Amino acid sequence: EGEDGFDISALLKETGDVTLDTGFVNTASCSSKITFINGDTGILRYRGYPIEQLAEHSNFLEVSYLLIYGELPTQEQADAFDARLRRHTLLHEDLKLFFNGFPRDAHPMPVLSSAVSALSTFYQDSLDPFDPEEVEISTIRLLAKLPTIAAYAYKKSMGQPFLYPDNSLSIPENFLRMTFGFPAEPYEVDPEMVKALDLLLLLHADHEQNCSTSTVRLVGSSQANLFASVSAGINALFGPLHGGANQAVLEMLATLHETGQDPAEFMRKIKNKETNQRLMGFGHRVYKNYDPRAAIIKKTADEILGKLGADDPLLDIAMKLEEVALADDYFVERRLYPNVDFYTGLIYKAMGFPTKMFTVLFALGRLPGWIAQWREMIEDPATKIGRPRQIYIGEGARDFVPIAQR
Ligand code: ACO
Repeated sequence: EGEDGFDISALLKETGDVTLDTGFVNTASCSSKITFINGDTGILRYRGYPIEQLAEHSNFLEVSYLLIYGELPTQEQADAFDARLRRHTLLHEDLKLFFNGFPRDAHPMPVLSSAVSALSTFYQDSLDPFDPEEVEISTIRLLAKLPTIAAYAYKKSMGQPFLYPDNSLSIPENFLRMTFGFPAEPYEVDPEMVKALDLLLLLHADHEQNCSTSTVRLVGSSQANLFASVSAGINALFGPLHGGANQAVLEMLATLHETGQDPAEFMRKIKNKETNQRLMGFGHRVYKNYDPRAAIIKKTADEILGKLGADDPLLDIAMKLEEVALADDYFVERRLYPNVDFYTGLIYKAMGFPTKMFTVLFALGRLPGWIAQWREMIEDPATKIGRPRQIYIGEGARDFVPIAQR
């Protein structure tokens, strides 16, 4: 019997045996060969390769290939993949019109998801999830066009003209140029910026069954096409408890800086629950030790910020918050450590991105993971349409009451 006198066993008799696992804390929704995480020991591997080794020796292009096709590419395969992507960066001229329809102050995430959803209308020749050639071309189109869409979302928000992609550049170089360049002016791509961006994209590339990836799989399990499924994933990522956290972290740090509030006092209010705010960028559903991606970023944040010429007072506040949290029982007992988003915003800010673009950058990074997971799901003969059960706790059967008698 439940706390409110509710007879759960009687209800279960009517419902059948189901497991209640709110938030899927302990329920695996699929089996997967893509990403391995051990939250207790802080391990993350893509297709068996430790994230630390990939961060040090690989790049986003190779890692995208690895996630989607299962193996690291040979030089020949990497070159062919790169060349193919460069040929598909252009957006249809009519798709560009979409950007004009959105208000200039719109957040770029819904702009991104709407444009990706619209790809289903422009590429009706590649929507069959069971035709390997169609899946392949939609994979390439999505990987190549999302950076262009993201750059146009930025340009729209700035009221600046769009730039056509320059396919002599790599995907991250092209993205930076289309974002920060101007049509009549030469744009010098800064190799330090490219390196920093590439690392951040690589670190976000997959993270097994997180909220947005599970959304991509769930939508795809109805045999919805890749564009429709990824568009749904982008919307899931927009939430502040998921991808939106990188924006929320920076807003939190900026408020602390502007108001001059003592970080320790801010933390005291959070842990005493005097505010319903959380320490953004802290905590993770799976990592209960340390987020290995945060460890890599923290190690490089100082170096990257230095190279980008940024001496940001918000970095000092971030370090102070981390120091207080790591020594505080509330955070230690709940095993709340910095997650990947705690430091990324500072780097994006140093690169010149406005806070609204941070989650878009996360989406660019997570895209190969979403695609790899969607393809694995579609190729798996064991896949069934995702259809969770529930435990009904509403009214029992009752007779209809005519409106005059209610
Ligand atoms: N600040 C303060 N307290 C926290 C925080 C936080 N960031 N995160 C969790 N807690 C507390 C909760 O209040 C709760 O305390 P209680 O037991 O006293 O009620 C306890 O820790 C457990 O929290 P849950 O919400 O049950 O943990 P869950 O696993 O569901 O949430 C999540 C994980 C959403 C990441 C959470 O830690 C959070 O909200 N963090 C801040 C947002 C954030 O940084 N999100 C990015 C996630 S990583 C990513 O998407 C790349």
